[in-house]
Formats: sequence, structure tokens, C-alpha cells
Amino acid sequence: FEKYRPYQPINLKDRTWPNRQITRAPVWCSVDLRDGNQALIDPMTVDQKLKMFKLLVALNFKEIEIGFPAASGTEYQFCRRLIEENLIPHDVCVQVLCQSRDHLIERTFEALQGAHSVIFHLYNSTSKLQREVVFNAGAEEIQEIALKGTRKIKSMRGQLKNCRFRFQYSPESFTGTELDVALQICNAVTAEWGATPKDKIILNLPATVEMSTPNIYADMIEWMHTRLDKRDSIIISIHPHNDRGCAVAASELALMAGGERIEGTLFGNGERTGNVDICTLALNLYSQGVDPALYLGDMPTIMEIVEGCTRIPVHPRHPYAGDLVYTAFSGSHQDAINKGLKALKQKHSPYWEVPYLPIDPHDLNRTYEAVIRINSQSGKGGVSYILETNYGFKMPRSMQVEFSKVIQHYSDKKQKEVTTLEIRKLFYEHYVDK
Ligand code: KIV
Ligand code: ZN
Repeated sequence: FEKYRPYQPINLKDRTWPNRQITRAPVWCSVDLRDGNQALIDPMTVDQKLKMFKLLVALNFKEIEIGFPAASGTEYQFCRRLIEENLIPHDVCVQVLCQSRDHLIERTFEALQGAHSVIFHLYNSTSKLQREVVFNAGAEEIQEIALKGTRKIKSMRGQLKNCRFRFQYSPESFTGTELDVALQICNAVTAEWGATPKDKIILNLPATVEMSTPNIYADMIEWMHTRLDKRDSIIISIHPHNDRGCAVAASELALMAGGERIEGTLFGNGERTGNVDICTLALNLYSQGVDPALYLGDMPTIMEIVEGCTRIPVHPRHPYAGDLVYTAFSGSHQDAINKGLKALKQKHSPYWEVPYLPIDPHDLNRTYEAVIRINSQSGKGGVSYILETNYGFKMPRSMQVEFSKVIQHYSDKKQKEVTTLEIRKLFYEHYVDK
């Protein structure tokens, strides 16, 4: 990441507004095995969950939500298997989700026996709409549900011996909750838990549904951040979903507005349009010279494992990861990239600066070998590059111009990419067989 610098188009001294940037990585929490899994047509098997868990550990996640152990046999067994087979590294904490119901909390504690580091994640829905149409309850009753669960978990935490135990509360549907109601409930839960600076509570403020522009979510986080009681005893976590397609932007703004921790998934799998994509967020940091503290250097392997477990392909244009993101189809882009790479070598600059390639594909174990692909938008440079590298034909400049017109004409008619073999055939037709 040292070869990248924060993009700073405006001179700092010309700024009339605060300069906010993300200067360090948040605490990452992967929810691939819970939110991601619950959104799959066929949820992962125990073995698939295990494969995904091992990947998440290898990528350096230290907090991993492994599921909702009280919800199903598979979820329970998976939790037991991790603990009984000693598969959780000493520095990794497993997070478990649970509703505020006594029997579910008891079952979750049963599943957790023997774990060495746990975040118990309690949630209940707080939004105005859900209070009215789902629960037919007032804000006080909803708060009481949260407090009842908090009390129960507090009373049982001693059952987990030799365990670093932490508590997380989510006012689910936070983005649809009046802020004064959310604040009141969060303050009440924090007080009930007895959070201290040494035993911080995690308050996770989800955009369960992304309901507005990213700045509005960030404003909500900032509003809470500046008003919560016992702020020094709280970690503010964010949990953005992607209903408006803005989860990455919303996350970045929310981190600048007081969020310290973020829950998301690899490539953004999750309910409906997904959770926020942690790969994009982490590599956005990386491209600004900030150490993301996640190891994403072998993107092809990461994609293979995730696609295998979720059976959801990564889109070819997915930021940083997609199969096509290091290709350039247009001739002027191809030319600029070649010149940029040449200049980089000559300058011996410590910084990566190549037109159209925001990061070095090699950093992700990718190459741009496929950059030179020929279609109707390619210029002379691309065509001559193909002929030279594949067949050793070196064309003079005037011939390059002439022949690229031939290729463009052919490609316009074909309406598809032109293959190397077709280029060779056309070359022969025009210059050799004539
Ligand atoms: O999106 C959401 O609100 C959730 C909660 C359970 C945190 O997934
Ligand atoms: Zn969610």
C-alpha cells in the first residue's frame, strides 16, 4: 500500500470545509457466514461454512459472525464443530446472532460452551414501521425487549469459563428508526449492560434497508456518535446494506462520521441487494495508501473459494476483482497504459501511476495480459501490438493506420471482439495474398 497516495485534488489550504479522510482501517467483521449465508438459495453446508471460515481467517479477519446457532441444526453443529475441533485461532473472535428470547439465548450459550472469545450479538427491530405493522408495540415495549435480552445474556455470561466475552446490540432497522428513539434504546441497553471503557459494548447501527443517500446514513451515525451516553465505553459499528447501490459510499462516509467497526461480506453477498462489499472497501483504502489489514493479494483464489461456497459468480466488472477490470478495449486507453507503464519503469518512481489502472493488478495476483483485445473501438496501437507479439510482424506507422481501419470496418460488421487469428487472416488478405 506504500506505493499509493491519497488522492488530493484540492490544495488543503484552499479548503473552506473540514478535510475528512479515512486514515486507518476500521475493525472488520465478516458476516458472510450469517447475513451472507441467509441470503443464499441453498444455504452453505457445514463443510462449505468451514471452507469459508478458513478463508476468512486466512484473510486476517479477527471478528467473524459464524451464524445464528439457535436457529437451525446446521448452524448449531457448525458452531460446535469449530469449538470441538479447535478450529478457531487464539486471536479470532466468533460472533453469534440471537433474538431476545430466553430459550434462544439459552441454546446459544449451549452452542458456545468451550469457546475462548465470543461476541454475543443481540438484535431486535426498532423502526417506526415495524413497531406499527409487525409488532403492534410502542417504543417502550420495544426497548423492554432489548433490555430483557440484555439482562438474560448478562446473567448467563459467567457460564462461559475462560472466555473473552463481549456484547453487541443492534437496533435492527436503525435507518427507519426515529433518532431519539434509537438513542434512548441504545443508552438504556448500554446502561443495563454496565459497559465500561475496559468492557466496551458494541452498538451496531445497521442500514438494514438503505433508505436514502449515503450522507444521510453518515449524518445518522454522527448524530448518535455525538450524543450517546458513555461514549468511551462504546464501539460504534456500522452494518450497511446495498438497496440503493450506495453501500460502499455510505460506509466510507459513516466511517468518517464516527463509525469504528464495519460488518460486511466478501463481494457484497447478503440479503436482497447484499451487504456492503468488504473487498471493495478494503481495496479503496489500499489504493489511497492506507493499510487495510486484510490480505487480499490472491484475488483469483479468494474468488474461487467464495464462488464455490456461495455459488454466486463475481460480476466481470466488479471493482478490483472482476475478470474484465484490468482490460482496456479502446485504443487510446491501450496506448496510454503502455506509455504509463514505460514511464513508470524509466522514472523508478515509488508510486504507482498508470492511466486507467488505479491499482497495479499484480498486487492482487492479476495481470493485464488481456488488456490488448481488439474490437471496433481499438486503435492502431492495439492491432500492431497483436501482430508484433504474436507473429513478429512489425508494421511501419503508415501501415498501422491503414490496417487499423480495415480491422475497425471488419469489427463494426461483426459487432464482436476480433480474434488474433482473424487479425492475421485479414493481414494476409490485405498485404500478402493480394
Ligand atoms: O441488516 C440487519 O439489520 C441485520 C441485523 C441482524 C444486524 O443483519
Ligand atoms: Zn444485515
